[in-house]
Amino acid sequence: MVTIEEEVSALIPEIIGIIENKDIKTLHHASGVQRYGSLIMEKLGLDEEYVSLFYTAAIFHDLGKIFWPDEFLNQHINLSLEQFTDVMKHPDSATHFLQMAGVDPRIIQAVRHHHERYDGDMQCKHPGYPDGLKGEQIPFLARILAVADTYEALTSGRPYRDAIAKMTALAIIESEKGKQFDPIVVDALWAAIIDFEKKKQSDIVFLSEIDFYTGCRINAIPAV
Ligand SMILES: [Fe+2]
Repeated sequence: MVTIEEEVSALIPEIIGIIENKDIKTLHHASGVQRYGSLIMEKLGLDEEYVSLFYTAAIFHDLGKIFWPDEFLNQHINLSLEQFTDVMKHPDSATHFLQMAGVDPRIIQAVRHHHERYDGDMQCKHPGYPDGLKGEQIPFLARILAVADTYEALTSGRPYRDAIAKMTALAIIESEKGKQFDPIVVDALWAAIIDFEKKKQSDIVFLSEIDFYTGCRINAIPAV
């Protein structure tokens, strides 16, 4: 007999296929969010179950965009009030869709709340949505998703702007620490990206020390 978990797992590739057909960029963005989220969670020492829930939440976080008209998907600037209202509905649309599919409620809550503001400020230029939650009312997975989502979006090119340099993106996110974003998650992102870049640098140095023809380190003491 097929369990409910197996039925839901079988649906996931189908939902991914729907996102892919509608807008491949949304799927690429989602896999970037998975990558940065996993670096953050590694710094936070979160367990495997958490990471697995996050992976699915990251894939589905912008699922609500599949209901947008095609011409609207690439716009994102100079939005009319009506269009912006539609943008703000995407976590709600995703919630209904995922509930119907029987997805784990922890995943649904992460998807639903990835645009809330940590300080819950509803008077600022960009208030959180859809429910105006604040601080620890916002599920932790959603707070991680918010930071990973923003970092990925800033450091990737868009049809209407170039990619932003990593350090500039980190500085932008830092300026929203304790406002839009949970400070603990922002600190974990900094630590994760700096470690990641350092590792990349040391790999480059190491590769430059390898003799291209022999595959040996240039300064290595020859074996006798
Ligand atoms: Fe979103």
